[in-house]
Amino acid sequence: MSGGLLIREGGTADLGEAMVTMVEGFPATFGEAWTLPQLEGAFSLPGVTLLLARMDDQPAGFALIRTVLDEAELLLLAVRPGQRRRGIARSLLTAVFGAAVTLKATHLHLEVRDGNPARILYESAGLGEVGRRRAYYRGNDGSVHDAITLSRRLDS
Ligand SMILES: CC(C)(COP(=O)(O)OP(=O)(O)OC[C@H]1O[C@@H](n2cnc3c(N)ncnc32)[C@H](O)[C@@H]1OP(=O)(O)O)[C@@H](O)C(=O)NCCC(=O)NCCS
Repeated sequence: MSGGLLIREGGTADLGEAMVTMVEGFPATFGEAWTLPQLEGAFSLPGVTLLLARMDDQPAGFALIRTVLDEAELLLLAVRPGQRRRGIARSLLTAVFGAAVTLKATHLHLEVRDGNPARILYESAGLGEVGRRRAYYRGNDGSVHDAITLSRRLDS
């Protein structure tokens, strides 16, 4: 058994492992977590890649990307609450860039809720704001937030 952080590409058999983080990782307020059938549906599409992070052989987080021609989109990124602020998301993001380049993407983009601290991570990784959808997210707590589109060019 290997310790430390391990990131690998996952297959259909690993969707259950991703769901461990999905269930724990997203705040219930905004209904951002996908169900297993939603994840299975997305994963069955061409160009969709799952990256799984394990810390000390335990599920720690995942990223899901979709690549179409030269455009990659980060669909989901999450780390289990007990594993946060250890650089796991940053490592997953580095792996996302690598996977997207391998698939010949030249740009990566994603959408993030305004106010989500994930934006700090994304901007430190070179993603910049390219668009904003006003009042796109409405939480079950009554809060309203813009959706911000971030993008960066990928080095090949
Ligand atoms: C956002 C998320 C993926 C970050 O995961 P993580 O493994 O804790 O992130 P990292 O440890 O790699 O953080 C890297 C840097 O990002 C920034 N960052 C991450 N989380 C932050 C937070 N809660 N507040 C402020 N900055 C934060 C920091 O600059 C951090 O570096 P530092 O710890 O040296 O200060 C995690 O909090 C999560 O799963 N959130 C819920 C799901 C979600 O919102 N995903 C993004 C959807 S677009």
